[in-house]
Amino acid sequence: MVLSNVIASQTLLHAEYGGVVPELATREHLRNLLPVARQALRDAGLTAADMDAVAATQGPGLPGALLIGLKAAQALAFSLGKPFIGIHHHEAHLYSPWISASQNLNPNLNLNPNPHSSFADFQPSISLIVSGGHTLLVHVKAEFQHRVLGSTVDDAAGECFDKVGKLIGLAYPAGPEMDRLAAQGNPRAYAFPRPMLNEPGDGFSFSGLKTSVRYFLEKNPALPDDPARLRDLCASVQAAIVEVLVAKTIRAALRLGASCVTVSGGVACNSALRRQMARECRREGLVLRFAETKYSTDNAAMIAILAERKLRARLPAADIDADIEPNWAL
Ligand code: KG4
Ligand code: ZN
Repeated sequence: MVLSNVIASQTLLHAEYGGVVPELATREHLRNLLPVARQALRDAGLTAADMDAVAATQGPGLPGALLIGLKAAQALAFSLGKPFIGIHHHEAHLYSPWISASQNLNPNLNLNPNPHSSFADFQPSISLIVSGGHTLLVHVKAEFQHRVLGSTVDDAAGECFDKVGKLIGLAYPAGPEMDRLAAQGNPRAYAFPRPMLNEPGDGFSFSGLKTSVRYFLEKNPALPDDPARLRDLCASVQAAIVEVLVAKTIRAALRLGASCVTVSGGVACNSALRRQMARECRREGLVLRFAETKYSTDNAAMIAILAERKLRARLPAADIDADIEPNWAL
């Protein structure tokens, strides 16, 4: 159970630069770590000595940022004499749809029919992890038994939202604002490519889509000044991204006989993705489970909950002096 989940967002800091600046991110982590840890304990009504274990993200990610969190967590675990658990960032996203026993989601969606059912009831499943840095399709056979089917060969889905947003003058990260503008636009106004939609593999590629939007804007330089056409553009780009994500996820689920689809990562907040994935899963008789929005964008609860799973399963904990894994593959 999640007792507290404190987030120190750096989006405003990086927005000024149009993307994450590694050195700034590292310094911010250093500045925020102790106040955030203290706040999390206060919210939970616990002291450090009450903890059973300490977990932190071990990778993948920016080395400087990983180093701060990992070393601080290891030092805390060492001083308390408690186990330390190093967590894979994407594996934490993968289990994040199962954090809440009952999810307060849109009742019109065919989400998990039994709100109290758990992870084990719905395997094998296909897990779509869509964030700013990664787009991954994973076949989950059982707890801790998963295989990556495909990933992005270039830009991730979130990155595509962010880069297209930048082209039309939106602040970083542009995904949420693109979603908001798209809600009032026509998704069929402009025809953008659906990259790799009809290719046999489970991989993704979104950089060609971004490039075609760039060319389109070069030919239509006044478009961003027209609010209605801008909304149509957002809706059309979003439709292209969402169609690829949904079609490839459903195709993998049917091919591998999965009964359940899960979606996590920042882009799981996208309203068109939620709607269309729900529609297609309903059509194919698949159970669908989205991470709650508060557990979709990066958060500490998903790290802690996966650590708890690993503790319960008695998986060997990482060494207390283990190193960061900036390029750790799932
Ligand atoms: O998982 P996350 O918080 O961080 C990474 O690990 O990358 O994902 C952040 C990404 C950003 O690219 C952001 O634009 C995107 O998630 N995002 C969205 C929405 N909310 C966040 N993209 C589309 N629609 C949204 N509603
Ligand atoms: Zn993430």
